[in-house]
Amino acid sequence: MRILVTGGAGFVGSHLTDALLAEGHSVLCADNLLTGCRENIAHLAREPRFEFLEQDVCQAFDPGEVEYIFHFASPASPVDYLEHGIETMQVGSIGTMNCLTIAQKHGAKFLLASTSECYGDPLEHPQKESYWGHVNPIGLRSVYDESKRFAEALTMAFHRYRKVDTRIVRIFNTYGPRLQINDGRVISNFMKQALRGEELTVYGDGSQTRSFCYVSDEVAGIIALSKSDEHAPLNIGNPAEFTILECARIVLETTGSPSKIRFKPLPPDDPKQRRPDITKAKHLLGWAPEIDLRTGLKMSLEYFQRAIQGSTACA
Ligand SMILES: NC(=O)c1ccc[n+]([C@@H]2O[C@H](COP(=O)([O-])OP(=O)(O)OC[C@H]3O[C@@H](n4cnc5c(N)ncnc54)[C@H](O)[C@@H]3O)[C@@H](O)[C@H]2O)c1
Repeated sequence: MRILVTGGAGFVGSHLTDALLAEGHSVLCADNLLTGCRENIAHLAREPRFEFLEQDVCQAFDPGEVEYIFHFASPASPVDYLEHGIETMQVGSIGTMNCLTIAQKHGAKFLLASTSECYGDPLEHPQKESYWGHVNPIGLRSVYDESKRFAEALTMAFHRYRKVDTRIVRIFNTYGPRLQINDGRVISNFMKQALRGEELTVYGDGSQTRSFCYVSDEVAGIIALSKSDEHAPLNIGNPAEFTILECARIVLETTGSPSKIRFKPLPPDDPKQRRPDITKAKHLLGWAPEIDLRTGLKMSLEYFQRAIQGSTACA
């Protein structure tokens, strides 16, 4: 297939691109490099089945004949979406509309990268796909949460009214090589601080929980979903739950860092618990994550070491 990956120069999009190329497809990556970078796709420079188009997907564009669209373009980390609030809302709305329109025009299948943030600060735990969420519609994080919720609604509307063959993945916290080091996410913060010998910053008392999915597991789940006939949203993430404090300790263990932990006040709207219920993905796709946090961190260590030395352009 010839496949369009929007946001393909970003963290997840570039790993997805690698996996699609490995399956023998051709990939056109459309990215405006707002939060991604060329370094993430530099290894594909001589790959004849790979094309890069520097493109803001909020502007109308036609990529030519494509058979599948993976719409991953969007600032994704709190640091990025808080800095680019309007762009985040634009890419979730106008960008998603443009990509769905391209899918309709070319008869292409479409997969939306949505997020566990659709559940907000959940009152149900763990979160099943049937849970509608608990989101502050005007809070700081709403630029991201609500744009993704709108993108999901738009995707379902194109599916229902215009018969576009769509899928929606709700991605939970994902980490691995190419994660931006300054993006404010838990893993990158802790790895950076530990490797620099700085104190690890824990917000609140560190009892809030997160789950972390290694990027190859996440991509395997996304590709399995893309091949299924499921049109409703599907959680793909790792249900192993850690408190932030436990996570900090595992990072210290993995890096062998002597750093101490420092507590700071909890920011507003910070979710207290986040863990996917992946029963549906297991039944439907026969998929489950395979890489635990300690192993995934070890596999990411070399990347983070290079990143803090500034030898990757994305860092
Ligand atoms: N990484 C995670 O843990 C996670 C969790 C939930 C959802 N997601 C979703 O997965 C997708 C990828 O996230 P990521 O972590 O790789 O983030 P990222 O910032 O590394 O990648 C996003 C990419 O989209 C590009 N982009 C942004 N706006 C664009 C626009 N208007 N036109 C073209 N390109 C644009 C950026 O330049 C970047 O390369 C996002 O849609 C995100 O919401 C990621």
